Order: sequence, then structure tokens, then C-alpha cells
Amino acid sequence: MLEQDAAHPTRVVRWGILGTAHIAQVALIPAIQQSRNGVVAAIASRDPIQAEVVAQVYGIPRTYGSYAALLDDPELDAIYIPLPNHLHAEWTIRALQAGKHVLCEKPLALNAEQAQHMVATARAHERLLMEAFMYRFHPRSQEIHALVQQGALGHLLLARASFSFRHTRPHDYRLDPAMGGGALLDVGCYGVNVLRWMLNAEPEVVHAYTVYGETGIDVTTVGMLRFPDGRIATVEASFATAVQQSLALIGTSATIEVPHTAFAPGTAPASYLWRGADARDGSNVTLDGVDEYQLMVEHFSDAVLGDTELAYPPEDSICTMRVLDALAESALAEAPITLPMQPCDTLAVAEAVAAVA
Ligand SMILES: NC(=O)c1ccc[n+]([C@@H]2O[C@H](COP(=O)([O-])OP(=O)(O)OC[C@H]3O[C@@H](n4cnc5c(N)ncnc54)[C@H](OP(=O)(O)O)[C@@H]3O)[C@@H](O)[C@H]2O)c1
Repeated sequence: MLEQDAAHPTRVVRWGILGTAHIAQVALIPAIQQSRNGVVAAIASRDPIQAEVVAQVYGIPRTYGSYAALLDDPELDAIYIPLPNHLHAEWTIRALQAGKHVLCEKPLALNAEQAQHMVATARAHERLLMEAFMYRFHPRSQEIHALVQQGALGHLLLARASFSFRHTRPHDYRLDPAMGGGALLDVGCYGVNVLRWMLNAEPEVVHAYTVYGETGIDVTTVGMLRFPDGRIATVEASFATAVQQSLALIGTSATIEVPHTAFAPGTAPASYLWRGADARDGSNVTLDGVDEYQLMVEHFSDAVLGDTELAYPPEDSICTMRVLDALAESALAEAPITLPMQPCDTLAVAEAVAAVA
């Protein structure tokens, strides 16, 4: 399946793209094209002319007028899925069943149950599946995560993650509840994911407050998450505020803050603020700019080529979805929700694999 490409001295992964999404055009197609181990070999759109227009702009050799036709292309190894959220599960499962590896946009699914089916299908078909949380591949995120895990903050007791922006596009799936719209799924998923990652644990109880919009989506959701050992975190997601992308990790001996662009810093140099015991002290640490999307797709391609294991197995996405489900349920019920004691990853997937088999 993997071809020798004259432009690439080593093996390369041949990617197909489902849909001509904005994020594919501004970030993922360029990232794959600049990657050391991948090429964009084909793109599909519901509209064949649109597929051709985008293919011409980006120099993509093959186009398809339907997603199903692209999945039938035997020359493709991996599929990138940047469709509206309600289509992630269906097209991921169809791509996996067609024998392709899948990088699917966040949130992986509409809920944990869908995510479980997607992961089970990947396991049953022995294909790779990963949620496209690109921020995890940024060296700043990696450095902060390593510092926290090494105990550089002491015991991490409090954490805050915030991602919001002022949504002004009238015809956007983000406004439609049936398409997986709403701030919690769109940007709250980053906060939940980063909090679970940094705290290296699952919350036991969550309590959320939501302001709903005219179309029925959550416009603003703020959640509190109680983790084991007396650790508490908050997550904020909104379509109604000025741009906000921040992370604060507050330990018993030091604090790390990323006041801006915590998840999508672009390719500019990326900083974080380190503060020790004395709140008046503080130093900015700045890392070189990178393309985190490129690092993500290079990692995924390495895994497809068998050169590495996936750093973030898809079971992790089931756990993120389970917390998002609980936050949404809590907001509706106006009450705290206790999460199940059973592990969200291995046990659930083992059961789902058995169901798919
Ligand atoms: N990782 C990131 O940085 C990041 C950033 C933004 C968005 N995202 C994620 O990427 C996904 C796409 O977001 P986006 O803002 O790029 O979306 P978008 O520009 O609205 O594109 C979605 C694409 O899906 C296809 N599609 C299929 N059925 C559709 C339907 N019923 N309505 C609308 N589009 C439909 C369309 O392609 P065709 O018409 O060509 O078939 C459309 O271009 C979402 O899951 C989002 O959460 C990730």
C-alpha cells in the first residue's frame, strides 16, 4: 500500500481528504504536503466541481464527487475527516471498514457511545484511529506536560482551561444541535482533553452551567471537574466572548500559565509563564514556532508506516467524550453528575469489540 515517492526519499503515506472543509484548506492539506512522510493524493466533495476547484488550488492529483468513491480508492492509505461533527462516526467507521487508517477531527464523535463504536471498529479492522487534537504535538504542550508529570509544580491541585470566541457565521453547523453544534463540543473538548492529560486522571464528578442559544445549542458552558485526591479543575467554552485560549496549572510549589493561544498558537514562537512560590516572581519561557498540524500528521504517518506507536490511542477520546457527555447532562439537569467508576478506555472497548465482532 505504501509507495516510494520521488520527492520523498523514504516511504510515504497517501492521504485522502473527505470534504473541502475550511480547516482542511488552511491547515491540514498544507501540513500533509509539507510533511516528510505524507502526500495528499485525493480529495472528495459532495460537489465534484468544488472538489476540482480545491484540488487545483492545492495541486491534489485525484478528485471524487462523493466520499464513498474516495474510500474505494485502493491507492489511499489514510483518510483525514474534517466533516461536521455529526458525520464523524459514520465516515470514520466507513473508512475503517474500507481498510483505511483515520485521522478524525475533534470532537471524535457526538458522544462516548459513538466514540466507543469507532474505536471498536478500528480495533476489529486493525487500522489506526486518532482524534486530531493538534495542540498535543506542540513542543510547548509537550514541555508543560513533562514538567507537570515530573512534579515540577509540586502536586497539581487546581487547573483552568478556557477556549472561546465570538461566533458570527450564520450558516455554520456549529449552530445546529443535530449536527453536533455548540461551544462545549466545538471548543470545550480542548479544555476537557487538556485537563485530563495534564492531571493524568479522570474526573469523578462534574457540574456544569450552560447558557443556551436560540437554535438550542449551548452558547456558553462552564464546568467544574472534581478529580481524585482533592484536585479541582474548571473548563470554559463559549461562542459569545472575545477570543480566549488559556490554560493555568496551579501546583503546591509552582504555577504554569499559558495566557494566550494555548491550543492554536499558529507558527509564531510560543510562550508560557512560570511562577514559583513567590507570586511576584515569574519568567516567560519561549519556544520556537512550529506547525503543530504538521507534527501531528507526521506522527500519524509514522504510525501508519509502522515506525512508531500512536502517542494518543483512540481509547483516550472515549474518555474525553464521556466527560463531555457528563457536562452536557449536568447542565441540562442543573445538578452534579457522578461519572461511572469503571475505566472509560479498555473495559468499554473490550466490550464494544466483542459486540462488533
Ligand atoms: N483542529 C482544528 O484546529 C480545527 C479547527 C476548526 C475546525 N475543526 C474541526 O473540523 C471539522 C470541520 O470544521 P470546519 O470549520 O472546517 O467546517 P466547514 O468549513 O464547515 O467544512 C465542513 C465540510 O464538511 C462537508 N460537509 C458534508 N456534509 C455537510 C453538511 N451537511 N453541512 C456542511 N458541510 C458538510 C463540506 O465539504 P464538501 O461540501 O466539500 O463535501 C464542508 O466543507 C469540525 O469537526 C471541527 O470541529 C478543527
